Amino acid sequence: KAIANERKQMSSSSNSPTEVISIIKHLYDIFYNTTKAIFPQFEDPICVISSQTNKSDYQCNSAMPLSSKLKQLNVQMSSLDIAKKLVENLPYSPLIERTEITGPGFISIFLTKDYAKTFISLILNEGVKPPPMKKLRVVVDFSSPNIAKQMHVGHLRSTIIGDSISRLLEFLGHDVLRINHLGDWGTQFGMLIAHLEDIFPNYVNESPPIADLQAFYKESKKRFDEDEEFKKRAYDRVVKLQSGEKNSTKAWQLICDVSRREFQHIYDLLDVKIVERGESFYQSRMESLVKELDEQGLLEEDEGRKIMWGEKTEGEIPLTIVKSGGGFTYDTSDMATIKQRIEEEKADWIIYVTDAGQATHFKSIFACAKRAGILDPSKIRIDHLGFGVVLGEDGKKFKTRSGDTVKLSDLLEEGTRRSLEKLKEKERDKILNEQEIIDATNNVAYGCIKYADLSKSSRNDYVFSFDRMLDDRGNTAVYLLYAYVRICSIARNLGEEFNKQMPKLKKETPIVLDHEKEWKLAKVLIQFPDIIEKILRELNIHYLCDFLYHIATTFTEFYDSCYCIQKNKQGEVVKIDVSRVLLCEATAAIMAQCFDILGIKTLKKV
Ligand code: ARG
Repeated sequence: KAIANERKQMSSSSNSPTEVISIIKHLYDIFYNTTKAIFPQFEDPICVISSQTNKSDYQCNSAMPLSSKLKQLNVQMSSLDIAKKLVENLPYSPLIERTEITGPGFISIFLTKDYAKTFISLILNEGVKPPPMKKLRVVVDFSSPNIAKQMHVGHLRSTIIGDSISRLLEFLGHDVLRINHLGDWGTQFGMLIAHLEDIFPNYVNESPPIADLQAFYKESKKRFDEDEEFKKRAYDRVVKLQSGEKNSTKAWQLICDVSRREFQHIYDLLDVKIVERGESFYQSRMESLVKELDEQGLLEEDEGRKIMWGEKTEGEIPLTIVKSGGGFTYDTSDMATIKQRIEEEKADWIIYVTDAGQATHFKSIFACAKRAGILDPSKIRIDHLGFGVVLGEDGKKFKTRSGDTVKLSDLLEEGTRRSLEKLKEKERDKILNEQEIIDATNNVAYGCIKYADLSKSSRNDYVFSFDRMLDDRGNTAVYLLYAYVRICSIARNLGEEFNKQMPKLKKETPIVLDHEKEWKLAKVLIQFPDIIEKILRELNIHYLCDFLYHIATTFTEFYDSCYCIQKNKQGEVVKIDVSRVLLCEATAAIMAQCFDILGIKTLKKV
């Protein structure tokens, strides 16, 4: 009790942190260090901190596992005694109001309001800042569709997740290189070039009008399979292309341009920035890499192929580094790629965003890169962010009614059509002007498509349903976008005079968190850095969506029971609770930051 009192007194002094920090990380650090000091026999002691529960703000659950660990060392100490000892030895923290031991040794932790007040003031006066961390060079490899083939929902998912992860890392101040690893190299180009020569013999002087590259691909594939002479010529063109011969290179560029334009259209609609660096970029690097691997004695002959094993563990498939005809493969290019990113780009962290089906491929790449001395996992973090399949509402792989792959531009168009329909249904077109309705239509449509993708754990498959994603109830982008506009309008509706004073009010008004619902809302907001840490650890952005939804629902509770603005019968404002209005503003600021990380554009009014 004495300790608790002492802490209370000290917390009112000006010891509160001046930066936003992850509370869970802070608590982990002090509990970890305390545990280590009490039990020096543990080099790296167990420390378990869980986030907010119904009963307490945070909780330390280490006492029980510590007790059993001690037992293994023949030391008898009950978990309750361990919990007591931890609490007694805990250093002062400006975040902790008091602790309480329950059950067999759970330590409930209750937060001071001071830190939350500081946090809210920081947000109001300095904007939403990231928690401090070491700045890294990060390569994010995402989207990466294939030339002359359809960009499909899998690539869309990679684009949306990769963009959001990049946005998060950029917000944190990291140096992010967003790379589009286009499938622009490989034997299929031989048949495409040979076919182009036949259909548009004048391609060198005049740009061929290829409208439908998929059909073009199918035609050339058919000839390749049926016509021996054509097949020979196709092989010859691959060799020519890879050796940099002029005409074949020109033909290849023209073909790539057609796809490139289609892809760019999608990136523009979704406002995704990405640098193109396709597989072709690595041609010369693949040649030298293969030489190096051979010299290191890492390649094995296997029925004419050259293969490489990583860890030779059970179920592992070796990489094919050189095909029996001498050509390179997807494996070769990814080995050259990882080397380029580490050695030339000086990456501290590399993230690949593709469907989960490529997990084995990346596992082998990482293992082989380690074996070849390219990758040192103690220095470089490397992640394959594999995501689940996009399913149709029938639970089967997402396809059109006729069973074809869905064209992304058609899909996005349908999204905007449905979004406009919804807005009209709600008669928003009567309140918004022409430009506003266009913006609202697009922001809602693309916001919904992105949110539906991001709000499910990316590891799982997910069902693509326009009806579900455009619903304005539940955890959807529409619900959150509307909630956000309403929160923003609280202060805005107080008029210009009031808003002019806002900077001064933000600086001078003490934040009050006396009402239970004010405190509850504040305790959600201060979790922002915790959520970021969690996403960085697990690379799963859906925690940010859950957080946004949590903010919106907690805000509703607060707004329902705490008046911010009192009006008389005539509708005139008679009383303003400035602290509460500021709490609304802080809520909106954090929500805006979350939307920005998700790549979702907000609405001005609804
Ligand atoms: N083009 C590949 C596909 O469509 C994705 C490439 C991912 N990136 C990589 N470095 N392998 O599946």
